[in-house]
Amino acid sequence: MKENTSKNLQVKKKVVVGNWKMNPMTIKEAKALAEGVKKSSARLQNVEVVLCPPYMFIPSIISKSKVKVGAQDVSFEDNGSHTGEVSATQIVGVGATHVIIGHSERRKMGEKEGDIAKKVLKAVATGLTPIICIGEDIHDTDGKYLEVVRGQLLASLILLKKTEIWKVVIAYEPVWAVGATEPMTTYDLHQMSLYIRKILAEEYGKVAVGIPVLYGGSVDATNAAEIVSKGEVDGLLVGRESLSVVNFTALLRSVNNTW
Ligand code: PGA
Repeated sequence: MKENTSKNLQVKKKVVVGNWKMNPMTIKEAKALAEGVKKSSARLQNVEVVLCPPYMFIPSIISKSKVKVGAQDVSFEDNGSHTGEVSATQIVGVGATHVIIGHSERRKMGEKEGDIAKKVLKAVATGLTPIICIGEDIHDTDGKYLEVVRGQLLASLILLKKTEIWKVVIAYEPVWAVGATEPMTTYDLHQMSLYIRKILAEEYGKVAVGIPVLYGGSVDATNAAEIVSKGEVDGLLVGRESLSVVNFTALLRSVNNTW
């Protein structure tokens, strides 16, 4: 393992996001899960951990620890008559720093590209880092999925000023690999991460160079390190495996040691 303390070594931490979805069931469990992750990841130098619980657990798990906290969605409205919605200002107000936007499970519920773009704009304007999820439903053999990914990526960024593009995180999650038994192969992921970076560079130039590109979809403690190193991604968006302190800790340690 390389040290990341050398002044000459430009080390960018890997970003690992735990997407708890609609879990766990109680505040007690949420606190225990967050505490466990904070303790076990305290010494990890090479990973930045972001936990994204359901909204109501956010204030209880915010602390001074290095672990960051994010929401799983945000309204594009500021305030007012929008029953069930939560604004970016409210999320920032309780101390969260990130927000997942455009997750495939929300797209399935009817979230549209136009709404996703407005949410990304609102998040950035409010100082939240949007973790924008993109990914094809079907990995077809004639390459149509490439156009789907390109379309989703550019549509999500369309309202941002070019100079603000660097403030986002992209999470590539092929829908067929989310909640499945196997992740995408590292070969295919490598092709995809190059493809996404190429689109960003072509469209936005140098300002897009440092945008983290994460992978999500059936990541676990046994495959995480290989996905990061061979897939050449900047981190991971993890669902099921982030709900167990033991498993998530093992996953974080393995990614930490990929340097
Ligand atoms: P999974 O979910 O890790 O359980 O496949 C990933 C996600 O939905 O973000």
